[in-house]
Amino acid sequence: MVGGAGSVPMLRTDDNAIISSVVGSALIFGEAARPGAGFSVAMQLYFDHNATTPVAPEVLEAMLPFLREEYGNASSIHRFGQRARAAVERARAQAAALIHCQPTELVVTSGGTEADNLAILGTVRASAQAAKHVITSTIEHPAVLRTCQVLEKEGVAVTYLKVDFNGFLDPEQVRRALRPETVLVTIMHANNEIGTVQRLEEIAAIAREAGVLFHTDAVQSTGKIPVDVKRLGADLLSLSAHKFYGPKGTGALYVRKGVSLHPILFGGHDERELRPGTTNVAGVVGLGAAAQLAAESLEAEGPRLSALRDRLEAQVLARVEDSGVNGPRVGYRDGRFWRVPNTTNLYFDFIESEALVISLDLKGIACSAGAACSSGAVEPSHVLAPHRSATQIDLPSRSISTALVAPHVRPSGILKWFSTVVYGLGRSLTGVTACAWARIPNPAKIVRTSRAT
Ligand SMILES: Cc1ncc(COP(=O)(O)O)c(C=O)c1O
Repeated sequence: MVGGAGSVPMLRTDDNAIISSVVGSALIFGEAARPGAGFSVAMQLYFDHNATTPVAPEVLEAMLPFLREEYGNASSIHRFGQRARAAVERARAQAAALIHCQPTELVVTSGGTEADNLAILGTVRASAQAAKHVITSTIEHPAVLRTCQVLEKEGVAVTYLKVDFNGFLDPEQVRRALRPETVLVTIMHANNEIGTVQRLEEIAAIAREAGVLFHTDAVQSTGKIPVDVKRLGADLLSLSAHKFYGPKGTGALYVRKGVSLHPILFGGHDERELRPGTTNVAGVVGLGAAAQLAAESLEAEGPRLSALRDRLEAQVLARVEDSGVNGPRVGYRDGRFWRVPNTTNLYFDFIESEALVISLDLKGIACSAGAACSSGAVEPSHVLAPHRSATQIDLPSRSISTALVAPHVRPSGILKWFSTVVYGLGRSLTGVTACAWARIPNPAKIVRTSRAT
């Protein structure tokens, strides 16, 4: 499919190729396909959908009129305003349908971070109690962790619960952490790095029994697995459009009817005064369109992506020595997801993760070594650190996480590149070149082992 010569690695559509056709999220840049481009072709495969997703064509179509002719302010009373308002309310209903709540229970925000901030600061500050306590986990996104730190500075006590080796929180830990002054439990639904899906129904039931509000950051689960606020038992739930093929900078907070919340922004009367500011009409329309797309495709996409992800993992593990998976290996079992279907977090012992990410990028494969907001940092992931075994702690940060949503990706293709890159890196780190190719031995390990003995 893609031709041309040059130094940039190319992928072909033969048995080992990654892509047989390209739709949606697998992106290709075919520079040489342009007549006279004069340089080589680079195929870009995007495996970083937990950082963000491309905007789906249908979503863009829905948004475009509101970036062009339909520019009215949704709070204006003339017809421009009314059309914008109608579009916002239609989109709110679409987003509400995805998580099974009433449209009036959704507060539109600028994304997941703002939704998390509003949920946590808003509920805790609305509590009339003198002493306040919040329960959360150590593997939350910084949008939750940093907000809890802000509360600590305001005198609120916060308990950070640890998770097990696979990233699961035992609901009984929440019960044991409860205090008479606990006002909020906030536990994420799916983790952005390893994909672990928490047993939220049980956690929410424990909070409810104790009369404590329960918030969940569902930014990485909404649009990927079924999310039903009633079934989960959530009082508050954060979601973000750009994680499921909607635009960046748009999200929502579900606030169960009857939950009282203080705003964190002050200004006009928008969003029932919980979120003042002129409504981002095009963004909200994009959120609604993406929510509708997700609702329509959820049932079929989950099993399809799980199968692709599982094949990739099995083959990488079989072929690349000293590789493994961080987090749970199980996907869907006993009627529920234990890991979001699009996510894998692979580790390669003795290989430095930043170097691996850069090398894969040079091969045209885009993936992450941690959350997008922190992948520029050298410190180990706060999610993965507790997962390391004693023999591994001296190793540099060494895992990459990749979110597979590419519809036509063939694991055999990407496997070839993972193997080649891991091998090449190990070799360049150590100078060892004599390795068999049947199963990729890790040259870095050979050197370490021989030095140790
Ligand atoms: C679990 C989780 N929560 C919150 C956020 C923040 O969402 P947003 O980028 O919409 O602010 C992210 C983004 O990566 C996330 O993964």
